[in-house]
Amino acid sequence: MNQNIINARVTFRNSPIHILEKFTIKDIESAYEQFKKHSGLDECVIIQTCNRIELFGKSKSNDIEKIKKTWASIIGLDEESFNENIEFVENHEALHHLLKLTSGLDSMVLGEEQIIGQIKKSITSAREIKASGQHLNTLFDKAIRMGTRIRNTSGIGKGGISVGSMAVKLAEENIDELKTKKVLLIGTGEVSTLVAKSLQRRGYTFEVTSRTIGRSQTFCETMGGEPVKFEEVFEGFEKYDVIFVATTAPYFLVTHERIITAMEGKNKGMMILDLSNPRTVDEKVATIGGVKLMNLDQIAEMVEKNMNARLNKVKTVENIINEEVSVLEASMKRLDAEPLVKDVFKSIDSLREKELQKALQMLDETDEKKIKIIEELTKAVVESIVATPMNNIRKASEQGKPDVIELASKLFDYKKQNQAD
Ligand SMILES: NC(=O)c1ccc[n+]([C@@H]2O[C@H](COP(=O)([O-])OP(=O)(O)OC[C@H]3O[C@@H](n4cnc5c(N)ncnc54)[C@H](OP(=O)(O)O)[C@@H]3O)[C@@H](O)[C@H]2O)c1
Repeated sequence: MNQNIINARVTFRNSPIHILEKFTIKDIESAYEQFKKHSGLDECVIIQTCNRIELFGKSKSNDIEKIKKTWASIIGLDEESFNENIEFVENHEALHHLLKLTSGLDSMVLGEEQIIGQIKKSITSAREIKASGQHLNTLFDKAIRMGTRIRNTSGIGKGGISVGSMAVKLAEENIDELKTKKVLLIGTGEVSTLVAKSLQRRGYTFEVTSRTIGRSQTFCETMGGEPVKFEEVFEGFEKYDVIFVATTAPYFLVTHERIITAMEGKNKGMMILDLSNPRTVDEKVATIGGVKLMNLDQIAEMVEKNMNARLNKVKTVENIINEEVSVLEASMKRLDAEPLVKDVFKSIDSLREKELQKALQMLDETDEKKIKIIEELTKAVVESIVATPMNNIRKASEQGKPDVIELASKLFDYKKQNQAD
C-alpha cells in the first residue's frame, strides 16, 4: 500500500481493568485534533469500549513513537506506561485485526453483538468531524460488512453468552442460594439490559435503580425487576446482598464509606459486581470484611474457561478472516490509484468538452437533438479509450505494483503532490 494503515491498541488481552481505564480517552473530539496535529496521522478513528481503546490511522510513514507521545499527552501519562500495554500493528495485520473485531473474534465474549454497534458509532462520529477520510471510511465500511457476513455464516454469535449472563453466572458460583438474596441492579443501559435479561431468564427477583425513576420504570416494564428511587438506594445499601453496577458514571458511585456504613448494619456478606469501565465501585471496598468485589477481570477469566467449548467455531472464523483479509487489502491498495484515475478522467473530460464546444461552434449547430447525439458520441469515444488503461492501473495498484502507477503518472503528466491524500 502506498499509504500505511496502522492500529495501536491497549486492550483487556494485555491489561487488567485498573490499567486499561488509565488509557481511556475522555474527550474524543479533542483527541482527534491532537492525533491529527501531532502524531503524523492524516486520518484516524478511535474505538473505545469497556475492553479496549484502539486507534486506527492512515499515514504515509508510521512513527509509533509520535503516536505514543501524542496518546500519552492526551491522557496525561508518561510514554513508558505504554511499553507493557500497547500493541502496534500495520497494514496486513491491522486489517486482519479489524476483521477480528468486526466479526467478534477478538471480543471477551466471543461473537458478542455490541462491538459491531460500537465500531459503527466510532466511524460515524470520526466521519462527521472529518477525522477519517477516504481510506479509513472505505476500510471501516468494508470491514463492517465483511464482519457481519462472517458472523452470519459462521454462527459465531449463536448460543453465545453475554457479559450479563457471565456476571450472573459469577454471582451464582460465588453465592449460595442466590434465589433467596436481595439483588440490586444499578444502571439501565445496554449492559444492565443484558444482566436483567439473564436474571429474569433464571427466575431471580431484583430491584433496578437509575438516576431518574422514570427510566427505571420503563426499563422494568420490558426487562423485569422492581424500580427503586436512586436516592433511596444511596441512603443505605445494607438491604442488598448482591449488587450489579453497570454505569458510565465518571466517578465512584459505590464508595468505600457507603459500603462500610452498609456493612455495619448487616450480619451477612455482600457481593458487588462492577461491570463498568472505568470502574464505578471503589476497589477499596474489597478490603471491607464480608464484601466480595468482582469486576470485568473476573468475567474475562470465566470467559477463558468457556472458550474451550467454542474453539471449533473460532477456527472456522479464523479461516474465513484469512481469506477475506486479502480481499480487503486489495480494495485498500486499489484506493492508491484513485487520485491518478480521477485526475486523468477529469482532464480528459475537460479536453473533450473544449473540443466539443469548438466543433459545435464551427458547425453552427442549434438543433438540441443533434447536439445531444454529438455530445454522447464524444463521451463514448473517450470512455472506450480511457476505460481499459484506467482499469489496468487499478488492477496494478491492487496487485501492489507501484512502478506501474509511477509510469502512468508520468505518461498522463499527473502532478505527484496531489497523491498525498
Ligand atoms: N456495552 C458493552 O459491550 C459493555 C460490556 C462490558 C462492560 N461495559 C461497561 O459497562 C458500563 C455501562 O455500559 P453500557 O453500554 O450499559 O452504557 P449505556 O448503555 O450508555 O448506559 C449507561 C448507564 O449509566 C448511567 N449513568 C451514566 N452516568 C451516570 C452517573 N453519573 N450516575 C449514575 N448513573 C449514570 C446511565 O443512566 P442515565 O439513564 O441516568 O443516564 C445508564 O443507565 C460502561 O462502563 C461500559 O464500559 C460495556
